[in-house]
Amino acid sequence: MKKLFIKTYGCQMNVYDSARMAELLAPIGYARSETADDADMVVLNTCHIREKAAEKVYSELGRLKRIKDARGGAMTIAVAGCVAQAEGAEILARQSAVDIVVGPQSYHRLPEMIARIARQKGHALETDFPARDKFDSLPKQAGSTGPAAFLTVQEGCDKFCTFCVVPYTRGAEYSRPVAQVEAEARALARQGAREITLLGQNVNAYDGEGPDGARWSLARLIARLAEIEGLARLRFTTSHPRDMREDLIAAHRDIPKLMPYLHLPVQSGSDRILDAMNRRHTREDYLRLVAQIRDARPGIALSSDFIVGFPGESDADFEDTLALVRAVGYAQAFSFKYSARPGTPAASAGKQVPDAVKDARLRALQELLAAQQAAFNAACAGRAMPVLFEKPGRKAGQAVGRSPYLQPVHADGAAALIGEIREVFIEAVLPNSLKGRLGGAPSRAAAE
Ligand code: 5AD
Ligand code: SF4
Repeated sequence: MKKLFIKTYGCQMNVYDSARMAELLAPIGYARSETADDADMVVLNTCHIREKAAEKVYSELGRLKRIKDARGGAMTIAVAGCVAQAEGAEILARQSAVDIVVGPQSYHRLPEMIARIARQKGHALETDFPARDKFDSLPKQAGSTGPAAFLTVQEGCDKFCTFCVVPYTRGAEYSRPVAQVEAEARALARQGAREITLLGQNVNAYDGEGPDGARWSLARLIARLAEIEGLARLRFTTSHPRDMREDLIAAHRDIPKLMPYLHLPVQSGSDRILDAMNRRHTREDYLRLVAQIRDARPGIALSSDFIVGFPGESDADFEDTLALVRAVGYAQAFSFKYSARPGTPAASAGKQVPDAVKDARLRALQELLAAQQAAFNAACAGRAMPVLFEKPGRKAGQAVGRSPYLQPVHADGAAALIGEIREVFIEAVLPNSLKGRLGGAPSRAAAE
């Protein structure tokens, strides 16, 4: 058996892709290993979303080159993911130790590329966009997926927010057919998955071909998957406010297996900046949407992404963002300093915001978001909630799982309950998790 080390950067879609790459390489003799040090093949599955993420790849490649040189070249290095897509041949020029560059829509060709470089020496580069080909030719998900699995149902983005590389690196929106998704979900459930998170860059724009030949919305897909026995929980991420249609909002009311948690990035609370970002909605549109969602599913936990220091963002614009955060009240959020990405419209916009201003804004925003998260968590103390136990905890006998609101929860004596959903009484709120006590009978309910 040869050893394969895959290092994953960035989003959940990359985590999913890394797992599929490992499955793809298993039949040609590669088993996954935990370190690059003794690996025959290393894959860096990369992220291009912000400059920092992309730069990390080159420093990791420098480290790998030293290992490869020390072994007289006996190591295959592949760069996959969004940096591969965006920079292509430039990577080969910048780092000679790289053998393979493969984009996120072409990685199903990895076995063939490995064979090609073994035959001819030299490099292999594939950065086409055949998303359909890829899903058609990937093997069925196999192996141990764990109780909480991910399933990519949609890829790419047609929104073209002016800061974002995704429409360029992941290409146009593509939705996998319902039957293909359902078959994969059933296979995951058979392997013990109790929860599936449906993934897509713009997942709520899902528009896959249904078994009846019609286009199915995400809500309809979720209703179908909710019928699968053994699956107790469904989630989806990431969504665009513009694609949050009525049937999907209603699904949060009508489908108990759909967890009361929604990641709905708003990026900014200023209409002027939202417009410059080409988000194609106003702050009022967003606030109205949030009210509708909360109406459909009271108590739903909301999460968002924010960018501070977008070109032209004034103090007043930033204040609008803080005001929106106060108005919504988030259970969780991610926030970033704007990072100019080559080839995106905002990168060449005139008024770039100085880094020191970005730093100060990020600090202020994160302080507010952290306080909201702490308040959300604190309100869970003393409550009972169903937890899906996913893995052993740090202490013997302990297990860690997730609440319906995606909070990590650990409980003593739960080690034998991995893969099960149990009612847990929340006893204490720690900085990054909740501590619970097992109670009651096994919970059949997925949420309440
Ligand atoms: N700079 C900073 N943050 C960005 N994001 C996307 N592009 C950029 C960029 N150029 C953030 C957005 C998005 C999340 C995945 O990453 O908030 O929702
Ligand atoms: Fe990027 Fe905007 Fe598409 Fe999200 S919706 S992937 S931020 S272009």
